[in-house]
Amino acid sequence: MSSLNNTNTTLHLYNLNFTLSRQFLSLVIVFLTVFQNFSCNKKVKEKHFVIGFSQCTTHDVWRKYMQKEMERELAFHPEIKLIVKDAGLSSDKQIQQIKELMDEKVDILIATPAEAKPITPIIEEAYSKSFPVILVDRNILSKNYSAYIGASNYKVGLDAGAYANSLLKGYGNVLEIGGIDVGSSADIGRHNGFKDCLKQYPGIKYVARLSEDWDASPAEAEKDLTNQLIKNDDIHLIFTQNDRIGFGCYKVCKKLGIDKKIFIIGVDGLPGQEGGIDLVDRGILKATILYPTGGKEAIRTAVNILENQPYQKENQLYTSIIDSSNVRMMKLQSQKILSQQNDIERQQNILNEQIIIYNNQRTFNNILTIALLLVLLLGTAVFFSWRKNKRITKKLQTQNEEISRQSSQLIEMSAKTEEAHQARLNFFTNISHEFRTPLTLIFAPLGELIANTRIQQDTRQALQLIQRNVMRLYRLVNQLMDFRKIEFKKMKPHVSETDLVSFTKEIVDSFKVLAKNKNIDLQFITSERSLFVWVDTTMMDKVIFNVLSNAFKFTNDHGLIHVTISKTNDNALIRIEDDGIGMTKEVIDHAFEPFFQGEYENYKGTGLGLALSKELIELHHGSIIVKSQRRKGSTFEISLLPGNAHFEKSEFETNSNKETVINEDADIYTTDLYNINNIPAQSFGAVLPKYLTLLIIEDNQEMRDYLNSRLGTDYNIIEAADGNIALQNAFDSVPDLILCDIVIPGKNGLELTKIFKSDVRTSHIPVVLLTAKDQENQKIEGME
Ligand code: FRU
Repeated sequence: MSSLNNTNTTLHLYNLNFTLSRQFLSLVIVFLTVFQNFSCNKKVKEKHFVIGFSQCTTHDVWRKYMQKEMERELAFHPEIKLIVKDAGLSSDKQIQQIKELMDEKVDILIATPAEAKPITPIIEEAYSKSFPVILVDRNILSKNYSAYIGASNYKVGLDAGAYANSLLKGYGNVLEIGGIDVGSSADIGRHNGFKDCLKQYPGIKYVARLSEDWDASPAEAEKDLTNQLIKNDDIHLIFTQNDRIGFGCYKVCKKLGIDKKIFIIGVDGLPGQEGGIDLVDRGILKATILYPTGGKEAIRTAVNILENQPYQKENQLYTSIIDSSNVRMMKLQSQKILSQQNDIERQQNILNEQIIIYNNQRTFNNILTIALLLVLLLGTAVFFSWRKNKRITKKLQTQNEEISRQSSQLIEMSAKTEEAHQARLNFFTNISHEFRTPLTLIFAPLGELIANTRIQQDTRQALQLIQRNVMRLYRLVNQLMDFRKIEFKKMKPHVSETDLVSFTKEIVDSFKVLAKNKNIDLQFITSERSLFVWVDTTMMDKVIFNVLSNAFKFTNDHGLIHVTISKTNDNALIRIEDDGIGMTKEVIDHAFEPFFQGEYENYKGTGLGLALSKELIELHHGSIIVKSQRRKGSTFEISLLPGNAHFEKSEFETNSNKETVINEDADIYTTDLYNINNIPAQSFGAVLPKYLTLLIIEDNQEMRDYLNSRLGTDYNIIEAADGNIALQNAFDSVPDLILCDIVIPGKNGLELTKIFKSDVRTSHIPVVLLTAKDQENQKIEGME
């Protein structure tokens, strides 16, 4: 039962595991789907573009302002990343950097070419390779770009010229000062515009142009300008290409003490301290031409291109002149713009912080949602598996109960079967016991009758036949009784030291007559003079006798039976070998089981002999085995231990138990078989009371009379001439035995037997079927 419970538990756990793993799998799928959704959302958010920005230089304040504008605009596009490369006003370096940006596969290229001509091919190359290219502030010499953003430098020059003319009222000498990037489109445009404008005013003389690096080496630039101003002491106006140069010029003029008489016009008009507006306001510059950076517009155009939105190729930004007439307003406006820009930056910082917080919270929320979802799903799974397990447990419980019920039923049934078996055995034992006395009483006078010399030969032969059969019956009865004793562990050996050689030889000798009659080669073989073993002689006698009888039973005339005594590993070995009909494997396997009958039609026995022999040998702690082959013969080997250490004290023969042995077991089926004159004759001639009743069912009057005459002396006889009377008598008198002819009127013998055996009143009564027909099928039917 416990193993059954274990199995159930395993089954239960297996089911639980299976349920959980199945539900867990579903959970994982759901989780993965949810996770994938989250990941997808994230992907959309995380998708970013890269803008590669090739700046001719990043060092001056105007360029810084441009970049600031770009970043401010990019703050609205967190998905866009900006990479800035500073060419340091070197075209070669800028070409290299643009190549690098292309290699990095930026999504869009923004460039402010240091010089127009050298940079044109690389911009065209990028454009031809499908990179969207935006030019800001400065242009190239071709139109192979996506968009241009910037004010007209030529117009800046024109405006500067016109303003100079108005300041000088048509007469004066002017100087132009630019940076070192003379090849840039800005420089070229401004220079051309200025010069073209002055052509209209013959009173204004364009004295010279200086190109200095005011951003990197202002001292040198100042020196050059000083020299120039000393050389040309009648200069009335200086046009500087940006406000920073203008401020530098002012400082030089101031040093020379000519600051009051020279007008300076700058370009850029940046807000902030020392920006162009501030310089005009302070009177340092006479005017500045507002030149927007285009940083914000460049980013907006880039976003449009990236998002496949419409955009314009040429985007001209507006310029305007700032002088004393509008500078206050411009300053105010620029201050306001600056403060607004500061506010925007602050807000953007706050926004960025908020975005970080929001992102963190979103991540946390996502995790929390997933966790909650998981908890919910797990909870559901646990609930369902709990419910399912509960159902399984209940089912298993019911099954367990059913199994327990069946097993107790089985126990009950087997107890009943055992009880029935015992009852049957008891019945046979009791009846065997009852048979012993009458058999003895038959046997004794029979012996005397046979010994009588006056009887005729054929009568003697008939009597001898009777005697042999009586002996057979007697043996059977004794075997049954012995077996019963063993079953109840009542039988104990009473061992004494015995010479196995002489003991066995004596038994073998007693079969000599039989062997002679059957022409069997019976031999007793041993190389031992004597071999002493501790045995219960009565038991050993029964065993050897039984095995030998078997050998004779299954050995045909002219066969051989050899009995060998030997010593192996100190054990004593009795080998009984025959060349008889042998046994099949199946018969060998069951040979020692009680009531087992081999399938030998002509050799039916009790099925007890070998079983009993085995039990008796085991009482001696010995062994009996059989080796056999069908049609080749059988060999039984009995092995006995040396010495007597294996016996209990109570198992040694004493005078008292010796007597008991004799009284109990000195019966005709063993030792007395070979000396039939030893049959007890104590009750010969005595008239016994009739204890038992026999029902004779026989339609033949003569046969009935004969049976009555032979059995009537010892038993009460009831007769029945047909089946119906027989039934009546059987139920009325419940006889101890029924002798029944098979062929009778009314119900026949087989039908009657069936009724007797199925009726509780008569089922215990042994029925002996009589028939003249010795047909196999009738025998089988009768047995059934
Ligand atoms: C800055 C700068 C500005 C000018 C622009 C022309 O590098 O010199 O001052 O307006 O470039 O491209």
